[in-house]
Amino acid sequence: MPLGTVTISAVLLGQSLKTGIESLAATDVPSPRMNAELLLMFALGCDRAYLYGHPERQLTAREEAIYEKALADRSRGIPAQYITGHQEFWGMDLIVTPAVLIPRPETEHVIERVLELCPPGDERRSPEAESCRIVDVGTGSGCISLALAKALPHAELHATEISEAALEIARANAARHQLENRICFHRCDLLAGMDAESFDIVVSNPPYVGQSEEEEVQLEVRKFEPGSAVFAGPTGLEVIERLIPEAWRVLKRQGWMVLEISGTIASRVRGSLRGWENVHIANDLRLIPRVLSAKKPDRLKS
Ligand SMILES: C[S@@+](CC[C@H](N)C(=O)[O-])C[C@H]1O[C@@H](n2cnc3c(N)ncnc32)[C@H](O)[C@@H]1O
Repeated sequence: MPLGTVTISAVLLGQSLKTGIESLAATDVPSPRMNAELLLMFALGCDRAYLYGHPERQLTAREEAIYEKALADRSRGIPAQYITGHQEFWGMDLIVTPAVLIPRPETEHVIERVLELCPPGDERRSPEAESCRIVDVGTGSGCISLALAKALPHAELHATEISEAALEIARANAARHQLENRICFHRCDLLAGMDAESFDIVVSNPPYVGQSEEEEVQLEVRKFEPGSAVFAGPTGLEVIERLIPEAWRVLKRQGWMVLEISGTIASRVRGSLRGWENVHIANDLRLIPRVLSAKKPDRLKS
């Protein structure tokens, strides 16, 4: 029995791929070939080479049912990552569910900036020196803290998150990559409960889309990704404006705050950084202002 509106007429692998591409294209799913490949690989538990290497292979009834359901879900707009339950980030395969934002490639620029500020191998200059202490605010799937734990073997990592459901996924991802002993997860609002002047780096990809921009956000994101991960409030600045003074409080002198932002809020965020030094905003590959970094000064003005 076909599920939803998508029916696969043939059960051979090559033909199934073709039918899947056609059905996704007919429902205006972007990149229909890539999506059909991904969903067929998911149904068969195989890689792309296998997909193209065995066009005459017959699908089992179970594989066919999984593929049909996946195509129907994708045609309804459900992101492929929520269907397959996976997304790659920083070379790691991460579990994703609708409880967490799907990690985006532009967030890898945030990791790159932290690694410039705290180069691998330099996070503990000598065996006696203290580790670099980093806190990731709003960890979601855990993508930022996991990437940093992997890249910085001596750093001490903390991750905060307000959603218990998201925290569960972050913990599962940490265990999946044998990093559960490297990251201390905290369920709290932003940096509540963290000691003053105790961190070298505060890093975050906070919710930064304003409800006023809702119409400009892709329908798939609006409908299926957690609203509390995407939207900050009416203007988009509501979370960041609370986070900046909190970051100042927990950072050591000369510590860095690294935030993912968007072009819409870049100048307003810059305007709220009175007292911070070395404020810099780097663009992403689409030339959109994306990564803000700012240093807490060594000497604080009274
Ligand atoms: C844009 S998502 C980023 C998730 C992940 N860090 C990433 O880069 O994909 C923002 C995350 O912040 C969490 N969050 C929202 N408000 C928060 C708050 N006040 N305190 C802690 N976490 C919060 C959301 O639940 C969500 O997981």
